[in-house]
Amino acid sequence: MPQFQEKSIVVTSERLSESYFRLVLESPRIAAQAQPGQFVMAACGSTLDPLLRRPFSIHRCLGDGTLHLLIKIVGKGTKLLADLEPGESCDLLGPLGKGFTLDPDKVSGLVGGGVGIAPLLFLVEQTNARYPQHQALHVFLGGQTGDDIRQLGQEFEQIGASVSLATDDGSLGMQGLVTQPFEEALGTLQQVFVCGPMAMMAATATLCQQANVPCQVSLESHMACGLGACLGCTVHGADGNYRHVCKHGPVLPAEEIAWIR
Ligand SMILES: Cc1cc2nc3c(=O)[nH]c(=O)nc-3n(C[C@H](O)[C@H](O)[C@H](O)COP(=O)(O)OP(=O)(O)OC[C@H]3O[C@@H](n4cnc5c(N)ncnc54)[C@H](O)[C@@H]3O)c2cc1C
Ligand code: FES
Repeated sequence: MPQFQEKSIVVTSERLSESYFRLVLESPRIAAQAQPGQFVMAACGSTLDPLLRRPFSIHRCLGDGTLHLLIKIVGKGTKLLADLEPGESCDLLGPLGKGFTLDPDKVSGLVGGGVGIAPLLFLVEQTNARYPQHQALHVFLGGQTGDDIRQLGQEFEQIGASVSLATDDGSLGMQGLVTQPFEEALGTLQQVFVCGPMAMMAATATLCQQANVPCQVSLESHMACGLGACLGCTVHGADGNYRHVCKHGPVLPAEEIAWIR
């Protein structure tokens, strides 16, 4: 699959909550090739600090040449991206990695925790566009507070997904872990797609394994190159071999990972 380095122009930057924002970039070549679950490596700022690009899931591609990123501010790179104004540019490399594989004839459960929700909106939108007769999509979103996931929950509902919400502080949806409403619905699901904190993905993978439901996880790890060259992103596979998250993933079948439970 072709990959591009593209100087992408910021169209909008929208703050969703104190730490979450959404960046819409004019990036026609990357957007035209992107698949749900793939990611881009973004250069943050115009100086050598930070030196390395940062990886971000592709959150949305609406077919108009734009590429959307959902970003949580956690450090220097994400802060620099949050400060970008419309008209400024950001150098992107992508689309990278392997994305989700969804069977439209099966009932799907999508589980997103925090900023791990990012690739799931793209997965629902592309499934709707490609397979108008697809089986139901149930989305389970977890966040620290209601502010983090309120707008995203509404957006999933607007595109026809049924949505269950859980927050740590109980300010939206049920109070507690998103794995709770997910477990209650698991008996109705035939395939599951997960992205979020490692502990959440490990718990979801265990539940799916026990219920014999196939599960794909989108992994996060520290990445230096994003291209399979630096070995910085490896995780332990269940077979004793390593997996490069950037090249073999970031989306992998859950049973391929040696989960630390
Ligand atoms: C495939 C992939 C997709 C991603 N998609 C998104 C996304 O859609 N939206 C988003 O906001 N973030 C996403 N991330 C995480 C994002 O890359 C990091 O948050 C970002 O690199 C932090 O850069 P920084 O300079 O702001 O923070 P830094 O100063 O580099 O780090 C700040 C803190 O965040 C931790 N951290 C940094 N990178 C990671 C990481 N990869 N995993 C876990 N902890 C990390 C550091 O240990 C440190 O504690 C993704 C990561 C990967 C590997
Ligand atoms: S980030 Fe360099 S090998 Fe994966």
